[in-house]
Amino acid sequence: MHKITLMNSKGGCGKTTIATNLAAYYATKGYSTCLFDFDPQGSSVHWLSRRSESRPSIYGFAASDNKMSPVNSEQQAPADSEIAIIDSPAGVALDDAMLQALVKNTDTLLMPVLPSPIDIHACAHFIEKLLIQGGAKQNGLKMSNIGIIANRVKTNTVAYRKLHKFLDRLGIPFVASLNDAQNYVFAHDQGLGVHELNKSRNVKDQEQWAELLNWLDTKALEHSDMNKQAGNF
Ligand SMILES: Nc1ncnc2c1ncn2[C@@H]1O[C@H](COP(=O)(O)OP(=O)(O)OP(=O)(O)O)[C@@H](O)[C@H]1O
Ligand SMILES: [Mg+2]
Repeated sequence: MHKITLMNSKGGCGKTTIATNLAAYYATKGYSTCLFDFDPQGSSVHWLSRRSESRPSIYGFAASDNKMSPVNSEQQAPADSEIAIIDSPAGVALDDAMLQALVKNTDTLLMPVLPSPIDIHACAHFIEKLLIQGGAKQNGLKMSNIGIIANRVKTNTVAYRKLHKFLDRLGIPFVASLNDAQNYVFAHDQGLGVHELNKSRNVKDQEQWAELLNWLDTKALEHSDMNKQAGNF
């Protein structure tokens, strides 16, 4: 099972939006997909409750409400699960133990960042926290398995160019840039992902997602090669 966690200490940067869109995408591609909501706000689970039964199904876990630990969440998932998307809370609700448990339990970590100076500054602090308190290395998370996503981008703004510069400096992969688009709000309201909207409505969004999905494919492949080498099938 490939475990993908959405994380950033900053509230409102798009963790839930990207988590639900990823879950919807993988489900529509026929993968057995789980969505774990570790945020007490329960936004991902709420999104799932709005999803029509006629859509490809996703196993949802109100992990925060049920006081689940990220470390043994894998055992709770159905045995045939292929993808787990893990939505995490903003920093205020993320203590060090929870941060470490989430980091330990993830294969790939995605960090959405908004292109504003306040968010860039907060993100830099969070990466520091992740590396020190989160013990990324000690918990087996390599820098190359962390991907930054610029979210709600209005291209060619000064803030966007600054974000690009900052990400280049970090040396952590900058894996995608998603536009600020009403499609995300519209899809969320209906328990859908943007890939499930009428294609003519979201050509640009789908192109941007292709970059992220390609990067995740390479991570999934690396993950399954590692498992094969370790003899875990
Ligand atoms: N690319 C986008 N385009 C337009 N609106 C977006 C986009 N991404 C997120 N939003 C909107 O921004 C708001 C915050 O997004 P979201 O809830 O996904 O953030 P979050 O990081 O999960 O927040 P929290 O820290 O509170 O859990 C929501 O209203 C969402 O619809
Ligand atoms: Mg959220």
